[in-house]
Amino acid sequence: MKNIVILISGRGSNLEALIAARQAGHLPVNIAAVISNRAAAPGLETAARAGIATQCIDHQTFAGREAFDAALADCIDGFHPDLVVLAGFMRILSDGFVRHYSGRLINIHPSLLPSFAGLHTHRRALEEGVRIHGCTVHFVTPALDHGPVIIQAAVPVLDDDCEETLAARVLEQEHQIYPLAVRWFAEDRLRLENGRVRLNAELLANSALVSPLLR
Ligand code: GRF
Repeated sequence: MKNIVILISGRGSNLEALIAARQAGHLPVNIAAVISNRAAAPGLETAARAGIATQCIDHQTFAGREAFDAALADCIDGFHPDLVVLAGFMRILSDGFVRHYSGRLINIHPSLLPSFAGLHTHRRALEEGVRIHGCTVHFVTPALDHGPVIIQAAVPVLDDDCEETLAARVLEQEHQIYPLAVRWFAEDRLRLENGRVRLNAELLANSALVSPLLR
């Protein structure tokens, strides 16, 4: 069974979804550790309750990004992960770090990349007036919120949405697609080819999401 290490900075709802999927038997991986850069991250508590090893490496105690990333990589590598899963890890990672985990580092981002890379994705989606928004799981490359896309989920943006309602609709989808993406990795169904992800699987027919859809 493949080993994964999950990095968090806060709430940890995606972490919870991954733990739940594993407990339900849908995610054949060993979660070797959960590492946070913030001691107060509620996700650490969630992991400990599930019997998963936790570590905190506080970025504020390091002189710079490179030093922090080196300590983080040391800690991660001590758990011998096949895959490193960023689940709300709010640090920009150095190129060296990203290269070290090339092809085995994935992230979830709350937008349909390449739209709305960076922060405040839901607010910006509302400001732009897009009708469809969503989330993306992708392999991490040195460019921020970039990299080969594994899976995306789209949701409609409704006329009366505010940032919170839209965020909640997207988050529900994040919790569906992240465990799926990790499972595909664990089952060796993902292949990187010329910077794109190929999925070895029988696909169900997807229906289009049209928004707005009138009666
Ligand atoms: C999620 O919206 C994720 O897409 C983004 O950070 C947020 C983390 O939320 N990268 P949680 O800590 O998993 O609840």
